[in-house]
Amino acid sequence: MKLRTVISKNIKVLVVFIIFLSQYSFTEELAEVKNELLVKRGETLVLEWGCNTCHSPKVYTPEGQMQDPRRLLSGHPADSVHPKIPDELLGTNKWGGFFTPDLTSWAGTWGVSFAANLTPDKKTGIGNWTEQDFLLTMKTGKRKGTGRKILPPMPIHQLAQLSDDDLKSIYAYLMSLKPVENKVPEFIPPKNQ
Ligand code: HEC
Repeated sequence: MKLRTVISKNIKVLVVFIIFLSQYSFTEELAEVKNELLVKRGETLVLEWGCNTCHSPKVYTPEGQMQDPRRLLSGHPADSVHPKIPDELLGTNKWGGFFTPDLTSWAGTWGVSFAANLTPDKKTGIGNWTEQDFLLTMKTGKRKGTGRKILPPMPIHQLAQLSDDDLKSIYAYLMSLKPVENKVPEFIPPKNQ
């Protein structure tokens, strides 16, 4: 059979195949661009809301305390030394709370809370969380919607007001971070509970 005949006989199949290929890569590219935009918006929201203030370990420079760019949003450093908590000073008519200078651990009437690792590390961060897990956590104030209540000073009630689109952008940005292995300690309940 001549080449021309082969081509003309299969022309429909060929056209369908080419359309399929071009659409496939176009859809993929579109998804990539969409994700890049989400990540950028998420980064802006994270900066505006000051998530780094509590969730990023700090380094000490001549200009003062800064967020450690190598461990962004990886939570309270596991190797930190904990100062003694002055329980007798905490209470309804006493002081409301104390915090370590790096602002990653907080003692208050709720006990002691440690800022979580928000990087996509699968073992110690939120690398195994789906977008839905993240949205449920932020909207219900409970880990993945059913776990334990998220403690202060995490501004959960304010963050719960964000739209789904904003929360999805924050999630996309967090997932784009470098995973950092850092096992944050479990919270310590108050002594008089
Ligand atoms: C004022 C300090 C502070 C700020 C600001 C803050 N957080 Fe938190 N966050 C915490 C602390 C402390 C915890 C741990 C609370 C606990 O153990 O219940 C926490 C917990 C979380 C958790 C739960 C993670 C887990 O594994 O349980 C998520 C998710 C989270 N924060 C996301 C964010 C995001 C996103 C922002 C910014 C939009 C933010 N946080 C801003 C202090 C803060």
